[in-house]
Amino acid sequence: MRVLQFGRTGQVATAVQVAAQERVTLTALSRSDCDLEDASAIRRAILDANCDLVLNTAAFTQVDAAESAADQAFAVNAVAPGVMAETCAARGLPFVHLSTDAVFDGLTDRAYVETDDARPINVYGRSKLAGERAVLDHPRTVVLRVSWVFSRYGRNYVSFMLRLAREREALKIVADQFGTPTDGEALADFLIETASHWRAAPADDAAFGLFHFANAGETSRYEFAWAAISRDPHARARIEPTTQAAFAEPAPRPPRSPLDTTKLRAVFGFHPEPWRDAVERTADRLVASGPLP
Ligand SMILES: NC(=O)c1ccc[n+]([C@@H]2O[C@H](COP(=O)([O-])OP(=O)(O)OC[C@H]3O[C@@H](n4cnc5c(N)ncnc54)[C@H](OP(=O)(O)O)[C@@H]3O)[C@@H](O)[C@H]2O)c1
Repeated sequence: MRVLQFGRTGQVATAVQVAAQERVTLTALSRSDCDLEDASAIRRAILDANCDLVLNTAAFTQVDAAESAADQAFAVNAVAPGVMAETCAARGLPFVHLSTDAVFDGLTDRAYVETDDARPINVYGRSKLAGERAVLDHPRTVVLRVSWVFSRYGRNYVSFMLRLAREREALKIVADQFGTPTDGEALADFLIETASHWRAAPADDAAFGLFHFANAGETSRYEFAWAAISRDPHARARIEPTTQAAFAEPAPRPPRSPLDTTKLRAVFGFHPEPWRDAVERTADRLVASGPLP
């Protein structure tokens, strides 16, 4: 099984490279190997690769920066995946892409299912939704929407909060934003585990299409951070709840965007772990591994 992956240095990209070891042959392309703003480079990378499946983990992920860089966000998050899906379709290759809970407005009283209307409230969310639409037109395409991804790799909410709690005396954490954390290492393992099924499956297989992938249970940003920080004996910050409004970030965030994973469970038989168990394990490993990223 040979996988071509767009993205090498990112959080999920790194987790997939670790998960792939001794299971599949994975070629991971960095920005210098293939810039996603260059459509012909994307086409060439896929056409030149001798692979069975293409996976896109790369994206313009800076939610606030996207507000003033919409052209770049749309180029990387919408146009580039569209080119990938089109080229994969021409080669008869399955294509796996990642999207986000930020396609929703966050005005919900229950977890979102795949068929709910997507109404993004920031540029990042709009660019990612445009990406979903550009790829789902093509056969043998999978889009996994994930949310609040954490892992031992890259800079993510868990490692960032652990570091701030060591560096600062006081730490204000948003308590009025709710969602479902996603264990990036479980995601990577699922992607590698399922790759051979996607490789063999025909276009009408239930394993293609749009899915929500997240841990079980909903929480707030505050509880999410606290679950990690409380595992670190070196944490010294006083933790205080605050509101999203008090942060006054350039991009608005959906106030509540939990993802319902019923479809994932039904189609793949995958049972997500409760989020707290996964966060505590990740925090313990990060704390044990020495300096925080
Ligand atoms: N992290 C989350 O909480 C979260 C939540 C929901 C959805 N997602 C989705 O999950 C996926 C993976 O996210 P992540 O957390 O792994 O993101 P990440 O750590 O920010 O990694 C993004 C990767 O994309 C690459 N990239 C950006 N622009 C590029 C370009 N023009 N050409 C080539 N590569 C480019 C970056 O390369 P450089 O290192 O060179 O910049 C980086 O390796 C994305 O689709 C994201 O939208 C993430």
